[in-house]
Amino acid sequence: MLAIKGAVAVITGGSGGIGMALARYWLDHGGRVVLADISEEALLKVQAVLGGETAVFMCDVTKEGDNSRLADFVIEKFGQINLVAPFAGIFRDCLLVSPDRETGRVVRKMALEDFKKVIDINLTGVFLTVRECLERMINNKNKGLICLASSTGSLGTAGQINYSATKAAMSVFPKVIAAELFRRGLGGQIRCVAVAPGYCDTPMARSMNPKAFEKILENVPIGRLIGADEVASLVGELYRNEALTGDVYFIHGGLRLGSKG
Ligand SMILES: NC(=O)c1ccc[n+]([C@@H]2O[C@H](COP(=O)([O-])OP(=O)(O)OC[C@H]3O[C@@H](n4cnc5c(N)ncnc54)[C@H](O)[C@@H]3O)[C@@H](O)[C@H]2O)c1
Repeated sequence: MLAIKGAVAVITGGSGGIGMALARYWLDHGGRVVLADISEEALLKVQAVLGGETAVFMCDVTKEGDNSRLADFVIEKFGQINLVAPFAGIFRDCLLVSPDRETGRVVRKMALEDFKKVIDINLTGVFLTVRECLERMINNKNKGLICLASSTGSLGTAGQINYSATKAAMSVFPKVIAAELFRRGLGGQIRCVAVAPGYCDTPMARSMNPKAFEKILENVPIGRLIGADEVASLVGELYRNEALTGDVYFIHGGLRLGSKG
């Protein structure tokens, strides 16, 4: 089992709900944290709240240079990388095509910009952050975990063709990355998994349409949103338990998709 004490976590989307909860969990267990996000103001606020061995770094995950500088910064600051949690993510929901209920004619389409923006951050951004951090982990002979953020959206949610596609990608990344590391004899040193949360109590979920939000809770057997701290605790266990790699771990309170069972 790996110990979190002294271990260094890099978290993108670090001022967001799940990112910040993971940082808090990591610090509470004696770890050190680098939080990366796009707003300096938000990062500094989070750093002041968390305290402890927390460093912050401005990084737009869609930019190759930002990711490379982030990975270098972590090594310069703390000398190692043990957990990579590329949790920066957005959604831009819309039906692919929306026919008018009365005329039957299409009155709206998902904008290309909204499709591309989600792909850029949730998919290309993760690719860049993981690639740059993994390079430093291998070159520095660090042991640890890459933990991606998939979602129950990966199973296919209406209105989320962009988001669901990126989260489905996050459920295949662990298999590819674990297999590639295995090929080079590094499968035990660096593992890769994804967590797939259902609806969590974070600003992202709270920004949803209230009606859609109520409907969602009707299908969650535990009758509430998942706490960001509960997702953080799962990530902590995935880090500690060295038998876990190459797979996706759902945390959704028993969410029934399309049926109440
Ligand atoms: N909240 C949920 O219900 C839920 C469920 C399943 C999966 N997830 C996934 O978990 C992850 C974290 O979600 P959250 O709920 O904490 O979201 P959040 O909106 O609270 O935080 C996301 C963070 O990403 C940052 N970000 C956006 N674009 C960025 C960019 N280009 N570069 C760097 N940072 C950027 C935002 O500033 C924000 O701080 C996301 O990948 C999300 O898709 C969330």
